[in-house]
Formats: sequence, structure tokens, C-alpha cells
Amino acid sequence: MHTTVRLLLMCFMLAAAGAAQAQERFSPYVPSDQENVERMLKLAGLRDDDIVVDLGSGDGRIVFTAARMNRKLRGFGVDVDEKLVREANAAARTRGVADRVQFFHRNAYDVDLREATVIAMWLWPEFQRMLRPVILAQARPGTRIITNLWDLGDAWPPDAEDFDGPRVLMWIVPARVEGYWNWELTINERRISYAAIKEQRFQKLEGVARAGNRRELLHDMKLRGEDISFSLALTLDGVGFVRHAFRGKVRGDRIEGTVSVTLPPDHDKPLELPWRATRSATSAYFDPTGTNIQ
Ligand SMILES: C[S@@+](CC[C@H](N)C(=O)[O-])C[C@H]1O[C@@H](n2cnc3c(N)ncnc32)[C@H](O)[C@@H]1O
Repeated sequence: MHTTVRLLLMCFMLAAAGAAQAQERFSPYVPSDQENVERMLKLAGLRDDDIVVDLGSGDGRIVFTAARMNRKLRGFGVDVDEKLVREANAAARTRGVADRVQFFHRNAYDVDLREATVIAMWLWPEFQRMLRPVILAQARPGTRIITNLWDLGDAWPPDAEDFDGPRVLMWIVPARVEGYWNWELTINERRISYAAIKEQRFQKLEGVARAGNRRELLHDMKLRGEDISFSLALTLDGVGFVRHAFRGKVRGDRIEGTVSVTLPPDHDKPLELPWRATRSATSAYFDPTGTNIQ
């Protein structure tokens, strides 16, 4: 069935169901176009160790297609329609993939998403939006979310989109990095303390940092799953004007990585130093500065 026809069918079924029911359980069963399923899964970039979860799995085609595209990954689907779940499990046995692919009669809100690495959905837009906080509360940083046609709300832009046909979209669950971060570096035999503040809206970051009595903005901030990078250029007491390029992995309240430090006058020969930051409840960023900021 053509995608436009599927969409019209879905709209008609929603109207027939009425608004109250729409809040509770609706999306109706309309299978995704097989071509779109493959485009969604290509956008996710399947890996051997993936666990692909379809929230509202219908006849199971998203998980079955993933299992065909990568013969090592595992996956499961959930659906409120018990008959569809029974048929999908029977199809898994017929296809010889029941050891890697299962289906459960379960509400999408009740699924434990902590093991998922790819979460697929084609649900009514409000329904996907209402699942957003559930996914963000449970799924690990780096988990890819793929959808067909509809997004996850205006505030969270997708990390990748494929417009080569009806729109398919992908998001990467970002690590939580908001808060106060501290670290130390030894540069030219001087121990320097840094106090940074990171502000976050999904994958978008802004930040500021202080070293000694000087403050600066963090620039080029990027967050992809647990991978974070940013730059900082400021004058350090007893060292001079220094450019830093930080990159690391966020693990809870710690970041581990490296920083490339470019010192004057040797600007083309940066130092590579280990970088370990910890998140804390308070920040020296707010300490009184005094007037000695030349
Ligand atoms: C549009 S179909 C998508 C089916 C499949 N994911 C695909 O892309 O072909 C939506 C499916 O979600 C199921 N569904 C609706 N509300 C649900 C809920 N609260 N929890 C789990 N499944 C639900 C419906 O029964 C239906 O099978």
C-alpha cells in the first residue's frame, strides 16, 4: 500500500476512535512501508551487538527486517494487540529467528528500555511525544531512536534525517551533562583548576568556564550520545593565552578523555594531556573574583 494511502487510513482511524481514546492507546495498526523500514534501519546503522526494540510492533516487520539486515543482533517488539503479538511470534518461529526475536503483549509505556540500543516507533505523533520522557529516563546515552514520518516534538531536533522518500528520522539519546564540572590540568608545571558550568537542552549545549580569576565561554560544544567535545581559549596565570580542545566520554558524574593544549608561542605543537572531570553540587565559578583580572 502506498504511504499516502497508509497515512490517510491512519487519519481516518484516528478520527473514528475519538479524541479521548487517542490519548490512551491509539495508534492504530497500519504496517510501515517495507522500503521505509529499511531506510529507518539504515539510518540507525545496525551493529552486531544491537538490541532493536519496536514500540507498537504490529506484524513485527521492523524487528524482522533488522534481524535480516544483521544476522547477529537481537530484538523484540511489544504491542497491545494480542493477536498481532501471537502472529508475530509464530512468524519468528517460521523464519527461524525465534532465538533472537520475540514479541510481547505489553503497553509501550511499560517496557524496560535500559537494554535497548535501537528504539523504533511508528505511532501517532502525540503518542511518540508522550513516550519521549520515558525513553529519556530509561534509555542509555548513545541509544538510537528511529521513527517513520513523525518526530518527537519541536524541542528535540533529530540527529539525522533521510528525505530520499517519505521522511525517516533518527535521534541519539544524549548523556546528561548539565551542571557544575571541575577538573585540574598541569601546564608548564603549574597546577590549574577549572570550574565549568554546562547547560543542556537535549543534544544542544552551552557552557562557561573559569580558571583563576578569568572566565570564558565554552565554544563548539558537541554532544553525541556519551561523546562530548568543546573548546576553551583563555589566559592562564603564569602561562599565557592558551587554547584547549577537550574531548571525552561522559560516564555519569565523570568525564574521561583528553585535551589538546596549544601554548604560546608554540601554537602549532599542542600538548596532549589526559582530562578527567567530575560533576559536583557546588562550583568555584561563583566565588568572588576581585579586581585583579588583567
Ligand atoms: C502504526 S502501527 C505500526 C506497526 C509497526 N511498528 C510498523 O511500523 O509496521 C502501530 C502499532 O502500535 C500498536 N499500539 C498502539 N498503542 C500501543 C501501546 N500503548 N502500546 C503498545 N503498542 C501499541 C498498535 O496495536 C499497532 O500495532
